[in-house]
Amino acid sequence: MTRPPMPDHRPDRVPLWRHLAMFRRDILSTQPAKLYRARMAEFRLPFLRSFMVNEPDLVRLVLQERPQDFPKSARVAEGLRLLLGNSVFLTNGATWARQRRMIDPAFEGGRLRQTFPAMWDAALSTAARLSPGPLDAEAAMSHAAADVIFRTLFSVPIEDATAARVYHGFRAHQAAQPLMNLGALLPLPRWMPRFHTRRARATARHIRALITEMTAARAQAIAEGTAPDDLATKIMTTTDPETGARFDTAEMVDQVAIFFLAGHETSASALAWALYLLATHPQVQEDLAAEAAALDPWLQGGTAAPGFSILSKLPRTRDAFRETLRLYPPVPMLVREASRPEAFRGRPVPPGAQVIVSPWHMGRNERIWPDPHDFRPTRWADPATRAQARDGYLPFSAGPRVCTGAGFAMAEGVLILAVLLRRFRFAPHGPAPVPVAHLTVRSGTGITLEVTPRGSGQ
Ligand code: HEM
Repeated sequence: MTRPPMPDHRPDRVPLWRHLAMFRRDILSTQPAKLYRARMAEFRLPFLRSFMVNEPDLVRLVLQERPQDFPKSARVAEGLRLLLGNSVFLTNGATWARQRRMIDPAFEGGRLRQTFPAMWDAALSTAARLSPGPLDAEAAMSHAAADVIFRTLFSVPIEDATAARVYHGFRAHQAAQPLMNLGALLPLPRWMPRFHTRRARATARHIRALITEMTAARAQAIAEGTAPDDLATKIMTTTDPETGARFDTAEMVDQVAIFFLAGHETSASALAWALYLLATHPQVQEDLAAEAAALDPWLQGGTAAPGFSILSKLPRTRDAFRETLRLYPPVPMLVREASRPEAFRGRPVPPGAQVIVSPWHMGRNERIWPDPHDFRPTRWADPATRAQARDGYLPFSAGPRVCTGAGFAMAEGVLILAVLLRRFRFAPHGPAPVPVAHLTVRSGTGITLEVTPRGSGQ
């Protein structure tokens, strides 16, 4: 059994210049290994005080008990604003609360059931695109997750001309400006101007123009009574229970941009790591392929999709996906800012200090999880895991700013994995991946897998 790959860790003490240089490269390898045990860490940098909280009580304080006192960091917003405008991911206070009131109904349980056939179609299309031989798993899973988003949000597959242009636009934008590439966390003084490259501005403008086209067309279809009953229609026709207002087209463009970004980058990262973990744990993979026999009547029987309840027949696949999210949370760190003087474990935290909650370190916290760095999906069947998860499982964050798409992502991830494992066997190919934090946790060296079709009924 292979130990899942970890990033390199820096020594406990390094000179400031080296620390900053490492920060620029990747935030995971900047962290010392002792943070898997430490309850808290304080970084004092020339322009900023930064605290990472690794203790469940402090994490709960920041995310759940007093989130209003720890708003989203303005620094993170800077890097993302070009593309995301005033989207729910970046706003704070009353604007954020209003946006959530209008978005949340689209993701509640009943709606999730209605989007399930679109997820099923995307899973089948993903399987149809795979062929025997080496597979770039990250690219394939990005394609799959983007397809899910287009189908559920706008009722079009990724082959649709505008959808394909948005998808390629996102990739070009990230190449031009790695969105979360810790310009966001790097403590530049506030007076220093932020530079976005010309190409980054152009790609962001291009994507937003395409999304505006899709959103305006949908607004017209809603007005004419011809709109399909999908997530975009639901969000655009929801009125704020407090004000009675709907999103206007401009505000909807911001929200669609975050659904594409948050919805496909994260799921793609999780699915690619899940396939890698299963490739390196062949016995688990065989168990899940056997479990996925529950899908056979639909895989063999033509076009109709199974009902949402099929997920209850895939508990081990769900546990493997959960375990993947524990080890490789796609959003590795959540960045907040203290808005007033605080004290953490007796140490003063000044207003403006950066407060980091790290799903990466909590998921591997040696005080919480037994064998924290091992891939052991069966731990999720043990009742003790419930308490460990309450303290140390944060892939979707927690509290009022919890991911709106958590239920959606769990359904999509389990379904796509089950369909792929029923159709194919995956084996590692080439060097082991090295986790690095880009916008999401990706491999610095890619994730290549060898794909072999399974015979029918295996
Ligand atoms: C495995 C997949 C996913 C993971 C791991 C994930 C993780 C997260 C995390 C950690 C946050 C909180 C970030 C922070 O507070 O700094 C977040 C927020 C968000 N996610 Fe997800 N996400 C996933 C999929 C999705 C999907 C499929 C959608 C929508 C279709 C979505 C939409 C959002 C939105 C709109 C927010 C902002 C919520 C707010 O600030 O109130 N996510 N996600």
